[in-house]
Amino acid sequence: MNRNRKADHIALARGTKVHANDFDRIRFIHHSIPALSLKDIDLSTSFLGTNFNYPFYINAMTGGVKKGDKLNTKLAALAQHFGIPFFVGSQSLAFVSKESRLAFETLRLNFPELFIVANINPNYTTKMAEEAIQILGADALAIHVNSIHELVMNEGDRDFTKWKDNIASIFKTVKVPVIVKEVGYGMHEPTLLLLQELGVKHIDISGMGGTNFSLIELKRQKKKVSPLLDFGISTVDALLLARNYPNFEVLASGGINSASSIIKALALGAKAAGMAKYFLDLCALPLSEMIKKVDELIIDLKKICVLLNVKHVSELNLNHLMFDL
Ligand SMILES: Cc1cc2nc3c(=O)[nH]c(=O)nc-3n(C[C@H](O)[C@H](O)[C@H](O)COP(=O)(O)O)c2cc1C
Repeated sequence: MNRNRKADHIALARGTKVHANDFDRIRFIHHSIPALSLKDIDLSTSFLGTNFNYPFYINAMTGGVKKGDKLNTKLAALAQHFGIPFFVGSQSLAFVSKESRLAFETLRLNFPELFIVANINPNYTTKMAEEAIQILGADALAIHVNSIHELVMNEGDRDFTKWKDNIASIFKTVKVPVIVKEVGYGMHEPTLLLLQELGVKHIDISGMGGTNFSLIELKRQKKKVSPLLDFGISTVDALLLARNYPNFEVLASGGINSASSIIKALALGAKAAGMAKYFLDLCALPLSEMIKKVDELIIDLKKICVLLNVKHVSELNLNHLMFDL
């Protein structure tokens, strides 16, 4: 991971309009005569072995680069305010730059109570994975499986032969929950089958519908087409597939950017919903305004629950959704 690439990704992701996604093709089945009050709605949930007040988290983006550290500090403060998990972006730079390593260490020092999720790629050895966790005093570890993204990048990885074995040994060795996460391309059946075979418990299916790294890379390369644009499964479809694998604790991300997409993801079977681009966009505001926006998001989540006549988010299920797919 080089510094310029991370900065390019942040700038291009910010400038990219998110297109309509499959969540827009699902409508809610509301109750015209609900029996609940907004104040009784309980949004709390438990995932990654921990109880959280809200069923959403800040998904992995950055860290270890100057601009990224500013973003991370703001995002960490926001996560701490709401008591939600904070996934940092790839820690690759921390292994090549002392400055970057210090930035990650400082994040933990500044936010001692925060639930932080470390982030590595599957080229890491078990020893490096343990170090990534230790640098952050991390509460969980995300391994991002971004094969499509790597192959779209001119400077990306071309050899994936060690990924499976590395994931298996990291997962067996480290002491914190391990999440295998996609980066906006979703997980199809073969991936789910392999992760099940490896015994992985937590997955973020991170599907299509939001940030699209193929388009971001093509912009970087000033190109318009790539055969790899045909790859990817929508977040909604990936969530539907993952329902066939009840041993996984499923986290959803990819195009989740509103209270309604969060609730739809939960009703489709996710334990919690992650948002990257949504929070990246919020970072344009001062922290106090970011907090107001998330307060509004929480009220909207509660309003939707009232209309679905659902007091606790764990009651959400497919019966609350109407598909127009
Ligand atoms: C600027 C940017 C940088 C990202 N960097 C990482 C990363 O370092 N590691 C990772 O696991 N995912 C990374 N992601 C992927 C997100 O965590 C998420 O899976 C994906 O963006 C889909 O969510 P979204 O539609 O809410 O953006 C990044 C996303 C963005 C927008």
